[in-house]
Amino acid sequence: MIIHTLTSSLVGQRLQRWLAFRPLTLGLGLAVMAALVLVFINETGYRQSTRALQEIGEAQGERLVLSSLVQNIVDAENGQLGYLLTGQPQYREPYDAAHKQISNQLAALRKLYEGKPEESARLATLNDHVNRKLAEIEMTVRLRESGNDDAWKFVVTTDVGREEMAAIRTEAAGLMALSNQSLMAGQAQIARSLATARLGIGLAALTGLFAFYLYLRQTHRLREAGQRQQQALERERNALEDEVRERTANLAELATHLQEVRENERGFLARELHDELGALLTAAKLDAARLKSRLASSPEATERLQHLTELLNSGIALKRRIIEDLRPSSLANLGLVASLEILGREFAERSGIQVEMALEPVELSEGNQLTVYRMVQESLTNIGKYAKASEATIVLQNFGSHVQVEVADNGQGFDVRKMKPATHGLAGMRHRVETAHGKLNIASTPGRGTTLRAMLPVAPPPAVALANGLPPTPPAPGG
Ligand SMILES: Nc1ncnc2c1ncn2[C@@H]1O[C@H](COP(=O)(O)OP(=O)(O)O)[C@@H](O)[C@H]1O
Ligand SMILES: [Mg+2]
Repeated sequence: MIIHTLTSSLVGQRLQRWLAFRPLTLGLGLAVMAALVLVFINETGYRQSTRALQEIGEAQGERLVLSSLVQNIVDAENGQLGYLLTGQPQYREPYDAAHKQISNQLAALRKLYEGKPEESARLATLNDHVNRKLAEIEMTVRLRESGNDDAWKFVVTTDVGREEMAAIRTEAAGLMALSNQSLMAGQAQIARSLATARLGIGLAALTGLFAFYLYLRQTHRLREAGQRQQQALERERNALEDEVRERTANLAELATHLQEVRENERGFLARELHDELGALLTAAKLDAARLKSRLASSPEATERLQHLTELLNSGIALKRRIIEDLRPSSLANLGLVASLEILGREFAERSGIQVEMALEPVELSEGNQLTVYRMVQESLTNIGKYAKASEATIVLQNFGSHVQVEVADNGQGFDVRKMKPATHGLAGMRHRVETAHGKLNIASTPGRGTTLRAMLPVAPPPAVALANGLPPTPPAPGG
C-alpha cells in the first residue's frame, strides 16, 4: 500500500515535472524549427538567385554576341556594296574585318546555346542564312575583282542577298526574343526568391517571438510555483516553530509546577517533623527530667537518664537540621543574609573548604529569596561534590532595581558546553532564575574554577511570585 502510494506519487511528480517542462520544450522546438526554416529558405533563395543571375548573364552575353554578329554582317554588306560601286580595295576593308569575326561569333553562339534545343535549332537556320549571305558577298566581290561586271550586277539584282539579310534579321530577332525571355525569367526568379525570403523571415521572426513568449510565460509560471512552494515550506516551518514554542512553554510550566510541588512537600514534611516529632521529643525530654528528680537516689539510674537526655537532645538537633535543610525557617525568621551566612558556615565546617562571604542586605520577595537560597545551596553542594576547591566565595550585592548573587570557587572547573544531559542541578537553577525574570550566567574553565552569577529583579511581576510558589513558612524549629 505504502509502496503503491510512493510509486504513484513519484509518477505524479514526474508527470508534473514533464507537464511543467512541456511548454519549455515546445518553445525550444519552435525556436529551433524557425531557425531551420529560416536557414532553408535563405539557402534555397541564394541558390535560385545565383542560378538566375547566371542565366541573366548568359542571356546578356547571347544578346551581345547576336547584335554584334548582325552588325558585322551589315558591315560586310556595306563593304561589299562600297567595293562593288567604287572598285577601290579600301572599301572592302569592313567586309574583310567583319568576315573574320563572323565565324568566331557563330562558334561562340553555338557554345552559348549548348543544351538549349530551341535556340540551337534557330541558330542552325541563322548559320545557314549567314553562310549563304557570305557566299553571295564573296561571289560578287570575286566577280568584281575579275572585272566581270555583268555577272556581279546580275547576282545583285537577283535579290538573293536582300532576302538572306531579311532572314538573318528575323532569325536573330527570334533568338534575341528567346534570350529576352530567359532574362525576364531570371529576373522573375530573383523577385520570387526575394518575396519568399521576405515571407519566410517574417514568419520565422513571428515564430521566434512566439517561442520567446512561451519561454517567458513558462519561466513566470515556474517562478510562481517556486514561490508557492516556498510559502508552503515557510508555513510548515512556522507551524513547527509554534509547536516547539508551545511544547517548550508546557515543559517550563511543568518544571515550575514540579519545583512548586517539591517546595510544598518539603514544607509539609518540615511542619510534620516540627509539630509531631518535635512534640514527641519535647514530651520525652520533660518526662526524663521528671524521672531524674525522682530517681536522684540511684546513681546508675541517674546516669542512664542523663544518657537518655543527651540522646534526646541529639535527636532534637538532628530534627532541627533536617527541618532547616528541608525548608529554611531562618529565611523567614532571620532573613536572607543570615540564612546564607549559616549555610556558608555550615558548609565550611562540613567540607573543610574555606568560605569567604560578602553579603549586602537586599530587599527581595520571599519567592526570590528562596531562589537565591536554593541557588547558593546547589552551588555549594556542587563545589563539595566536584570542584576539589580550597576556597569558595559567596557575594550578594544590591543594585537597587536588581540583586546580584555570585558563588565562585577556585577548583578544577568544567567544560560548560559538555554538560551531561542527565544532570539537573544547574538546569533547575537556571529554570528557577529565569522563571523569576532573572538571568543566570555560568562561567567555568577547566583548571581555573567556576563562577555562577545570577541577576534577579527586586520586584518580580506578580505572575512570577506565584510561579515560584513559596509554601507556607513552617514555624521556627523549637524545643
Ligand atoms: N563547581 C563546580 N566545579 C566543577 N564541576 C562542576 C561544578 N558545578 C557543576 N559541575 C559539573 O557540572 C555537572 C552538572 O552539575 P549539576 O547540573 O548540578 O548536576 P549534578 O550535580 O546532578 O551532577 C556536574 O556533574 C559537574 O561535572
Ligand atoms: Mg548538582
